[in-house]
Amino acid sequence: MKATQSKTPILKYFLISLILSLPLLLLFTSLQPHLHRRHHHPTVTDPTSEDLKIRPGYSSYETYLQRQLNKTLNPKLRQIWTTRDWDRKIQVFAKFFDELKRKNLLSNQSKALCIGARVGQEVEALKRIGVNDSVGIDLVPYPPLVIKGDFHKQPFDDETFDFEFSNVFDHALYPNKFVREIERTLKPGGVCVLHVAVSRRGDKYSANDLYSIKPLVKMFKKSEMVDVRKVDGFGLDTEVVFRKKEKIQIQG
Ligand SMILES: C[S@@+](CC[C@H](N)C(=O)[O-])C[C@H]1O[C@@H](n2cnc3c(N)ncnc32)[C@H](O)[C@@H]1O
Repeated sequence: MKATQSKTPILKYFLISLILSLPLLLLFTSLQPHLHRRHHHPTVTDPTSEDLKIRPGYSSYETYLQRQLNKTLNPKLRQIWTTRDWDRKIQVFAKFFDELKRKNLLSNQSKALCIGARVGQEVEALKRIGVNDSVGIDLVPYPPLVIKGDFHKQPFDDETFDFEFSNVFDHALYPNKFVREIERTLKPGGVCVLHVAVSRRGDKYSANDLYSIKPLVKMFKKSEMVDVRKVDGFGLDTEVVFRKKEKIQIQG
C-alpha cells in the first residue's frame, strides 16, 4: 500500500512533464526536415528535378570554389595538361568543332567563348580551325587563351558571343545561373554547344548529376534545341546544341 502511494506522485510528475514537453517535441519534429535540408544544401537555390541533382556537401560557395581550385591549381596536373596531354586533346576538340562548322553552327567569323576552359585546349582548337576570335574563361586564368571568370557570373556584356562551348556543366553548383549567363551573353541567333554526361557520373569535382537532357531543355528558356547526338568526349557522352531565339520585331 505504501509502495503504491509513493509511486503515485512520481507517476503524476512524469505525466505532467510529458504533457508540458509535448509542444516542444512537436515543434522540434516539424523543424527537423528544414534543419536537415539546411545542413546539406545551404547554398543551393536551383530547383532540382528527378533528372538533375545538386550534390550535397557544399556548405558554402567558398567550399565549392576551393574544391574546384584544388584540382585546377595542382602544379603536377597543370604540367601534364600543358605538355603530354596538350596536342592530343586539341585534336579531339578540333574534330568536334569541324563537325559543327560543317553543320553551319560555327564559322570562322564567329566570336567564340569556351566556358570552364582550364588551360584552353578547346580555345586553341578553335583557333587552329580558323575561329580566331576565341577566348576561354575559368576560375584560374591561363593567358592569353583563358581569362579569369566565374561561369555563374560571366565577365562579359549582354549579347557578346556568336558561339559558346562548354564541357563543364556538371561543375555548376547553380545550373540555372550557368544557363542564364550563357543566354545573356549569347547574341540572338547565337549557338551554345554543351558536352554532358547522362549515362555516367562525373568525378568528385562535379557539383551536379544529370540523368537526361530534359532539365537542360527546360532551363534554356530563350533558346531552342537544334541538335542532340551521342559523342565520345573525355568521359562526356552527349552533345546538345541550342540556338538563342531571334528578337521578335514588333511592327509599329
Ligand atoms: C573537368 S575541367 C574541364 C577543363 C576543360 N574544359 C577541358 O576539357 O580540358 C573543369 C574546369 O571547370 C572549371 N570551373 C569549375 N567551376 C567553375 C566556375 N564556377 N567558373 C569557371 N570555371 C569553373 C575548373 O577550374 C576546371 O578547369
